Amino acid sequence: MSIYLVTGGAGFIGSNIVEELVNQGARVRVIDNFSTGHLENLRTFRNRVDFRELDICNLADLKKAVEGVDYILHQAAIPSVPRSVIDPIGSHNADVTGTLHVLWAAKEAGVKRVVYAASSSAYGDSEQLPKEEAMRVSPISPYGLMKYMGEEYCQLFSSLYGLETVSLRYFNVFGPRQDPNSQYSGVLSRFITAMLSGQRPVIFGDGEQSRDFTYVSNVVQANLLACHSSKAIGKVFNVACGDRITLNRVVEILNRLLGSHLEPIYEPTRTGDIKHSMADITLAKVNLKYIPTVGFEEGLRLTVEWYKDYMKKA
Ligand code: UD1
Repeated sequence: MSIYLVTGGAGFIGSNIVEELVNQGARVRVIDNFSTGHLENLRTFRNRVDFRELDICNLADLKKAVEGVDYILHQAAIPSVPRSVIDPIGSHNADVTGTLHVLWAAKEAGVKRVVYAASSSAYGDSEQLPKEEAMRVSPISPYGLMKYMGEEYCQLFSSLYGLETVSLRYFNVFGPRQDPNSQYSGVLSRFITAMLSGQRPVIFGDGEQSRDFTYVSNVVQANLLACHSSKAIGKVFNVACGDRITLNRVVEILNRLLGSHLEPIYEPTRTGDIKHSMADITLAKVNLKYIPTVGFEEGLRLTVEWYKDYMKKA
């Protein structure tokens, strides 16, 4: 039976991938250094995974963890635009050097395929919408650049060493287990938890920036398809819903879902932010047979329910 290794598997997206693999009866190994992940994220299926606490920056330990693995789903990263602006070297170590380590360890161990969590932030602030994979990238934050460097390493490892790699450019993923507690947390986790506590959400800028918010189960689906599709090797795919919504509209929808009337507080725009983001997902649909099955509003409803429970326990 194949062994799947999920790096960053105690994090938000990683733990959702792990859960699905476990539900499908797969053998799963998880590594995480808890820089942004939590063991709590694995609680309900902890005894069904081989968990190892380690940092992908530690190549010797990583090599041991990769032994015998067939597929790597590489989610470990410091996943924040503003944090990369404040600490580019720390982010670079995790996001670029860490990714190089994962690829090298995979190549050395004869892993079948590495699926890499790339980012739509590589597109930067170019005017063209929707974003297509063939567009020229022009990142405007260290994070966008780093995530793009990871993709380039993946493609190089495919062509130079014959290691099968696939890069998935995620667009603003949200859903259960996204940690709302850091100033770097994803916007929806911050809005939902603030508004559930009766607080006004803080919008950086005028709220007219838009994102292609993607419910996490769609991203899980794309990862599993990318492991096995013969048309995926050495390629880059957008993973999103192919739609966009402004932050002002998000607040309106949340007020409706929660039965509240909370007005946003507007603060200055964040450095490194892009204005609009929306994906063309044709390539993933055609090559991976990816279909986003949970749309924005349904995903938001599911996420609100999850945070209600989470906040009761906190
Ligand atoms: C997000 C991801 C990044 C991913 C990228 C891909 C997170 C934390 N970051 O970056 O990993 O690669 O999408 O598209 O998930 N905002 C507020 N109020 C808040 C927090 C944020 O108004 O309390 C605004 C931000 O200024 C920004 C927008 O919401 O304009 C989205 O911010 P954020 O959720 O941090 O995501 P991205 O920076 O788009």
